[in-house]
Amino acid sequence: MDFKGKDIISIKDFSKIEIDDILIYAEKMLPYAKGEKYKDILSGKVLSSLFFEPSTRTRLSFESAMNRLGGRVIGFADPSGTSQKKGESLADTIRMADSFSDAIVVRHPQEGAARLAAEFANGPVLNAGDGAGQHPTQCLLDLFTIKTEKKKIEKNNIILLGDLKYGRTVHSLAYALSIYGVELTFVSPTSLKMPKEVINECMELGVEPTQTSSLEKAIKDADVLYATRIQKERFPDAEEYNKVVGSYRINNELLKNAKENLIVMHPLPRVSEIDSEVDSTPHAVYFKQAFNGVPIRMALLSLVLGEKKI
Ligand code: CP
Repeated sequence: MDFKGKDIISIKDFSKIEIDDILIYAEKMLPYAKGEKYKDILSGKVLSSLFFEPSTRTRLSFESAMNRLGGRVIGFADPSGTSQKKGESLADTIRMADSFSDAIVVRHPQEGAARLAAEFANGPVLNAGDGAGQHPTQCLLDLFTIKTEKKKIEKNNIILLGDLKYGRTVHSLAYALSIYGVELTFVSPTSLKMPKEVINECMELGVEPTQTSSLEKAIKDADVLYATRIQKERFPDAEEYNKVVGSYRINNELLKNAKENLIVMHPLPRVSEIDSEVDSTPHAVYFKQAFNGVPIRMALLSLVLGEKKI
């Protein structure tokens, strides 16, 4: 596995063997991610953390990952305090960050922005989410969570729920889960169905997803329920958003019909999709899932910076 200098832009850039290797390496990172062990393998390295869109988990877990391995972080959480405000192009901001650091993490509202950034940077660029496009590090931490919670990814019956049209996490995940040969069910309001291209990709990988708008029916057979937020910021028309917001609500009543060992995942932030009463049930793994961003991102930073010493 030689990832030194590699850009992490889309999950489709990885083979199954490479994904498996990253998940195994992330497992080794767990005690370091929890602060139980410490090794400064990224001492002397600097990461640029450029967030052109809001984030809690992705930004903080990347920064935690870098710090836990002895590296340092520069960057911004809001571009309004940068020369973007004076009209600087994305390409020039990236050129600058590239010259100040060893790797760049970028989140941007425009699909394709991370790929563009990679063209202007000599060092590795890690996509932290580009519009409705890809969110590969989220996808890897989702796979890692399923693997650790269910002991394997293969053959699980997995529901992807909510905003399947604009949700970048579910686009990446539907593709990646198909590589592992799972059973997929897509549950969404009619106006937010999974795009045809994503369904075609799943089918090319041998998985024929079931599509429905009834969560009550689908939940009975599920091993994993992966919920997503209906993302107001991605709707071109506020009225369309108002028609579908609150379409699904996961609560203890709904979970009475689920398997005992069903896990409920969510990339977070949640708004009203999961009732807080679910948090204290054994089904809830979404906070563990968010924590898993740290070992995954430690593994990726260590690999792209060429310091695989754990
Ligand atoms: N899952 C995720 O990307 O969360 P943030 O938007 O808080 O980074």
